[in-house]
Amino acid sequence: MGVANAYVPRPGRDQENRGASRRARFGESVTNDVAIRADRIYKVFGRRPREAVKRLANGAERSSVTGFGTAAVIDASFDVKVGEIFVVMGLSGSGKSTLIRMLNGLLEPTSGSVNVLGTEITGVSEAVLRDVRRTKVSMVFQHFALLPHRTVIDNAAYGLEVQGIPAAERHERAQRVIERVGLSGWEDKLPGQLSGGMQQRVGLARALVADTDILLMDEAFSALDPLIRREMQEQLVELQRELGKTIVFITHDLNEAMFLGDRIAVMRDGRIVQLGTPDDILTDPANDYVAQFVQDVDRARVLTAAGVMEPARSVLSATAGPRAALRTMRDLQTSAVFVVGNGRKLLGVVHDTDALKLVKRGEKDLMPIVRQDAATVTGEQHLVDLFEPSAESPLPVAVVDDAGRLIGAIPRVTLLAALGNVTSSAITSELSVVGPAPTVPVAVMTETLRQTASFADEAEATIEGSQA
Ligand SMILES: Nc1ncnc2c1ncn2[C@@H]1O[C@H](COP(=O)(O)OP(=O)(O)OP(=O)(O)O)[C@@H](O)[C@H]1O
Ligand SMILES: [Mg+2]
Repeated sequence: MGVANAYVPRPGRDQENRGASRRARFGESVTNDVAIRADRIYKVFGRRPREAVKRLANGAERSSVTGFGTAAVIDASFDVKVGEIFVVMGLSGSGKSTLIRMLNGLLEPTSGSVNVLGTEITGVSEAVLRDVRRTKVSMVFQHFALLPHRTVIDNAAYGLEVQGIPAAERHERAQRVIERVGLSGWEDKLPGQLSGGMQQRVGLARALVADTDILLMDEAFSALDPLIRREMQEQLVELQRELGKTIVFITHDLNEAMFLGDRIAVMRDGRIVQLGTPDDILTDPANDYVAQFVQDVDRARVLTAAGVMEPARSVLSATAGPRAALRTMRDLQTSAVFVVGNGRKLLGVVHDTDALKLVKRGEKDLMPIVRQDAATVTGEQHLVDLFEPSAESPLPVAVVDDAGRLIGAIPRVTLLAALGNVTSSAITSELSVVGPAPTVPVAVMTETLRQTASFADEAEATIEGSQA
């Protein structure tokens, strides 16, 4: 894949907020936050599909049932949550299209059941299925399937026209969607006058105009040039955020999957071999097939700070004095410590040279030497955002939550280990995970602590002395 198509992270995946307002209206048989439930679905094409399923269910290999048919999907179970982008990824022929077609009833499973927003769609009449496709699930195809002699707006409104909705209303609805997908001004053009990317926008508009909660997209962007494809991916994420749609997106492009997916199902030979977040799939591939799939991914743009952080070790309470700071740095052999206030709120950093001066002067308050130069990131930020802060900071990069609380730290070795896909313990057993070596020699710290010990902490000084 070309450079232009390399993976770039999208900002924070906020699954919690997506589509929340829509949750109330869903059916009873599945919980409110499940948009689609697939329960042990199989699809076998061929002469004796049921016999093939029976054997597969009893543990037969896919290759051993070819006499009965082609097992396109084997025993797939999963929930698509309301408001998520659920990506199905796999090589050509792995069963992706067959799977997605069972989710809107275009194909009937040979065995198993599919529930869409509370409605069981397996074994129901064609009329019910049409209704599901009209009101609940829209689909966008790879080849835009536009009608060449109709204008953009009539293509977008086509589904409404089929439903017999009057021209004025369908044009009004189509117009709104056309603006959403960035095609304002092109309403009266014919598809042939549009670029590929614009044609795909019309395809997307046609799916959006029905205003269904669920969008199924089968390789919808695969025919586009890399740059336009990236633009469409970004726009899809934006649309999803604004409209709260649930999206099932098929691709064989890993970087696209990683960019779009809240969760990714990896298919191989008809089976879902792994289902997890992009982080899960990268850091813990279920088997060699998945590992090979992900080996070319730019880990820095997929892994998050929260995914690789460690407990922060060099931390001190703001109420601790300069002596405690110096002692902590000596014990951890580091040149700086994080200082936290109430509720572990990160206040800043104390450096060993500053602490040493304060201790020599016999001062008790740490705050004057707390510097605001901690390198901080949030848990959702990608490793690529850590390079600069990590290079500039004497301490591990601090990971903070929305309230500014210190929730973890990322030492440079951990960052390197994550990028190189090495377990950090393999490296950190060799190196200090705390940070750079102290700039003040340990002996100087110990000696200063001893000389400045007051009567109040004589006992402590004795312990210092005995340790030295
Ligand atoms: N209508 C059909 N009749 C017979 N076999 C089929 C049919 N549709 C799909 N298959 C077979 O089922 C398997 C899965 O096909 P499917 O189209 O679902 O794969 P895919 O993952 O979508 O592949 P691609 O990336 O090429 O689109 C393939 O072996 C295919 O040949
Ligand atoms: Mg396909």
